[in-house]
Amino acid sequence: MTKIPTILAIDTSCDETSVAVIQGQKVLSNTIASQVNLHKQYGGVFPTVAKQAHQENIDPTITASLRQAKLTKKEIDYLAVTQGPGLAPALEIGIQKALSLGKNWQKKVIPVNHIEGHILSVLAQPNPIKKNFTTIKPKLPVLAVVVSGGHTEFILVEKIGTYKKLGTTIDDAAGECLDKVGRLLGLGYPAGPVVEKLAKKGDPKSFAFPLPMTTTHDYNLSFSGIKTHSRNAIDKLEKNNQLDKQAIADFCASLQFGVFRHITYKLEKLLTDQPVKELWLGGGVAANLELRKALRKVAKKYQLKLRTPYNNKLCGDNAAMIGLAAHYKINQNQELPTNIDRRPQWQIDKTYF
Ligand code: KG4
Ligand code: ZN
Repeated sequence: MTKIPTILAIDTSCDETSVAVIQGQKVLSNTIASQVNLHKQYGGVFPTVAKQAHQENIDPTITASLRQAKLTKKEIDYLAVTQGPGLAPALEIGIQKALSLGKNWQKKVIPVNHIEGHILSVLAQPNPIKKNFTTIKPKLPVLAVVVSGGHTEFILVEKIGTYKKLGTTIDDAAGECLDKVGRLLGLGYPAGPVVEKLAKKGDPKSFAFPLPMTTTHDYNLSFSGIKTHSRNAIDKLEKNNQLDKQAIADFCASLQFGVFRHITYKLEKLLTDQPVKELWLGGGVAANLELRKALRKVAKKYQLKLRTPYNNKLCGDNAAMIGLAAHYKINQNQELPTNIDRRPQWQIDKTYF
């Protein structure tokens, strides 16, 4: 049996400096140096601040990740790095580091699309304590739903490495919508996880939200209407001195309900037209239990297996998912570019060349 290659992967696409060590689907380490506290004051990610923080964090994160994997650099067979999409100055740091390590360690560098990472994150497995580890072999075709702060997409996975984007948001991403409305409610940055927490004490039926794009025949999404509707409703509550603790909790629950209902409405439309064998959910918002519950319901109705990442670290930006995508590229002997330049707008269905 040929040895499964050990891959050291780097992701610096946005505001997390992440380094992971992967062996097949096994995550040996997945280290993240978060910049959330740095960007809080701006209410969003500030690219030049992100670049500087990546520069400071990258070497210690590599050291920590190797240590956690209990490996030395000599045991690494390949390097992998996010080439895009993402913030150009942030991507640059990871790519430069991967290329210089590749040269020093004389290892090949595999460039990876960040969205492909989010798609495949559901296949990652913890390093097994037990010996009976079996590789997950998904049934294809699969519909992958990626819901994050920068993307909300429905992607058909015909085979691993071959993707067709069937639907996408035409404006804000779902996570961005939760973050922006959460900010109006004074919930800080990023607001998504706070919205989920507060929503637990609220009534999802207390505020009505519009269901967007019901008359279009495509599978695209739009969250700007929900955002505008929220702004008007919050203004009204503030004017009437009604934005108390319970009203905020009710608003969070209703907002979540409105955002996720839009996703599942379009998802069902798609699944009716496009039969698949499995449903996958990835991206930062995939950590949200209400979203998982909503997708589980859809999966049950269409008799599909639903796969989600095994922990929340694998939902948000992380390098383990990048290493996993690289693993499949090595396995399939995919032709890869030698010139790895940043691709900040790289769409999932555009190839390397
Ligand atoms: O995948 P990710 O880390 O970065 C991007 O590639 O965008 O996703 C970050 C997004 C943010 O909008 C954040 O608010 C949202 O994921 N998020 C959540 C939760 N955890 C993270 N949204 C709702 N509920 C959560 N539990
Ligand atoms: Zn991401």
